[in-house]
Amino acid sequence: MRMTSRRRLIAGNWKMNGRLESAAALGAGLIEGLANRQDLQALDWLICPPFVHLKTLGDLLEQSRQKIPGLAMKLGAQDVSAAEDGAYTGEISAEMLRDCGCSAVLIGHSERRQYFSESETLIAQKLKRAIDAGFLAVLCVGESEQERGKGLTRAVIDKQIELLLNLWPVSSHQAALGPCATQDLQAQRGVHMALANHQPGVGDTNARAEWASRLVIAYEPVWAIGTGKSASPDDAQQVHAFIRDRLDQAGWPSSSIRILYGGSVKADNAQALFGMPDVDGALVGGASLQATSFLDIGQAAVRHR
Ligand code: 13P
Repeated sequence: MRMTSRRRLIAGNWKMNGRLESAAALGAGLIEGLANRQDLQALDWLICPPFVHLKTLGDLLEQSRQKIPGLAMKLGAQDVSAAEDGAYTGEISAEMLRDCGCSAVLIGHSERRQYFSESETLIAQKLKRAIDAGFLAVLCVGESEQERGKGLTRAVIDKQIELLLNLWPVSSHQAALGPCATQDLQAQRGVHMALANHQPGVGDTNARAEWASRLVIAYEPVWAIGTGKSASPDDAQQVHAFIRDRLDQAGWPSSSIRILYGGSVKADNAQALFGMPDVDGALVGGASLQATSFLDIGQAAVRHR
């Protein structure tokens, strides 16, 4: 029996896979599976299809929620713009995602850091935008194989969550700075990032608790993504506990923040991972592309409730 009130979250990152038809079929298969396997409804579920498939999945989920009361599946995007609106060619805003039925978003996935040069500053800006817009934001962190080999795992993760630890919820100080996205994008262009230096006041506590309820952290060691080499349950637990400690030290209500593990999660290794006290679910890539393998990962979590 788990000694925490954190509800397990099983999230699927579909990455750049599928076509509209196969995405709709996968969504339908998952919804049917959840409707038939009531015990799986004790978990939270999230699917993150490619942008162009979101509206189709959003409509499907909306119709299904009317037929299946309590359907615990959210729709998420794999990225979001740090800006609210305006002349940002190719970007997609949080409000546009909401129009498609999204209420969650992945932020700072290692593939975006690695292939699209997303910086810590930009990631912090996106995170803030997503949370301010009321989304569930899944911040991805994790070390590369080389960093792990040099014993730098904790240092790397510390750096990746540092900006988050300094981002405080909206306060009078911050409101005086004007629209956050514009401010943030100016920061990205080299202007001082004012928000990172904001010191919290007593009045921030409630707002921070609210932020915490919208924040999820996913520990995804880069060397484990798509390689079939998952972190061992003990290694994952150690890193998760480290992240929780850091959140705690920074004054976040760490015991209520979910920390997911990601990297080659399959039904057969999920059970041991979910046996760890600080592993609150999984962020799944490859195995989320088939309804059965994704639902079976959830089944492993149900066994460890
Ligand atoms: P795999 O499960 O395919 O290793 O991918 C993990 C991942 O990157 C999820 O975001």
